[in-house]
Amino acid sequence: MNICLVAGARPNFMKIAPIVRAIQARKDEGLRATIVHTGQHYDENMSDTFFRELGIPAPDYHLEAGSGSHAVQTAAIMVAFENVCEQDRPDMVVVVGDVNSTLACSIVSKKLQIAVSHVEAGLRSFDLSMPEEINRMVTDAISDLFFVTEQSGMDNLLREGKPKERIHFVGHVMIDNLLYQLGKLDAATCERFPASSLKKRLGAYLFLTLHRPSNVDDPEVFSQIADALNTISRTYPIVFPIHPRTRKCMEKFGIHFDEPIVLLEPLGFMESLYLWKDAAAVLTDSGGLQEETTALGIPCITLRNNTERPITIEMGTNVLAGNSKEGILRALEKQLGRSGSGEPKRPPLWDGHAAERIVRILARDV
Ligand code: UD1
Repeated sequence: MNICLVAGARPNFMKIAPIVRAIQARKDEGLRATIVHTGQHYDENMSDTFFRELGIPAPDYHLEAGSGSHAVQTAAIMVAFENVCEQDRPDMVVVVGDVNSTLACSIVSKKLQIAVSHVEAGLRSFDLSMPEEINRMVTDAISDLFFVTEQSGMDNLLREGKPKERIHFVGHVMIDNLLYQLGKLDAATCERFPASSLKKRLGAYLFLTLHRPSNVDDPEVFSQIADALNTISRTYPIVFPIHPRTRKCMEKFGIHFDEPIVLLEPLGFMESLYLWKDAAAVLTDSGGLQEETTALGIPCITLRNNTERPITIEMGTNVLAGNSKEGILRALEKQLGRSGSGEPKRPPLWDGHAAERIVRILARDV
């Protein structure tokens, strides 16, 4: 059975890594992974570093779609992926998450009558101004199999009328990857990170990621967030690896960050984990980090008004801060004031074995 795994943007790489391993573990049963990299992300530190660190084999196909408007990027991926499907005729296409590559490849596969599985199905922010929400809804509208990370995903898919027998609550491949890589983060590896001396020097610090168009594309909103962060940095230093979109907007709008905010280039998975896992709190607008901090019990402040991942709030590690200065300061105060609650409460099935469950179901269903 030829299972085609699609990855295009940074968070996809963490999600396919454990699925590739789980397929390879069953190769004696005739399971084979074909890896397609759409090229949505292409810088060394947004792409190749992740393949290397996460042990993902080199892609069988690289579509080199690159950046552009949503239509340009999605169309480039679709045209190139159609050729791959016609040439390779996979038995199943597996798409992960909610990026443009997920949307583009699910549509192409389905129109070629190739079955589609969506990993991380059913999440909904109910905010159609987010491109990812559109990607999630369209992908789920045409997928054949749904692999779900949390109860809200089950509820949303059932409410939308998806057949129960096609929906599988399997846990989260992102957490499979996190736990697997955490086990490999030994002292010798950490010493080699350029950020290791920084970490030792900082004492208590916050870790920040920021890249949502709703936060960085509008100069007023971005200035307000920067103002909040500059205020916070008078009390806590902040480590901030900057996404290329955010870097461009900073330069375009002349946004300034004060010195206790340490600006870094985008980090690989391991160095990033090494920094955020020991932070006093994480400030982010990423979907994945909301979940990863939940798994390790790190306080997280999400710089958004909503989340498609409500389990992270229910577990008590995550709060929504919005993107106003007062909202961010209030949320940080609340999170830092939380009394230590001992062992983190992990959501059901976030146990490091989601990919094995997925591949077991694929082997049976295809
Ligand atoms: C994409 C995803 C988003 C995900 C994020 C993770 C969509 C709609 N958005 O957003 O859900 O959270 O990835 O990073 O799919 N750029 C580079 N080098 C790269 C990649 C991008 O410089 O390797 C720059 C380009 O100028 C590009 C901009 O970053 O225009 C944005 O990239 P794009 O892939 O369009 O969206 P992201 O903001 O990265």
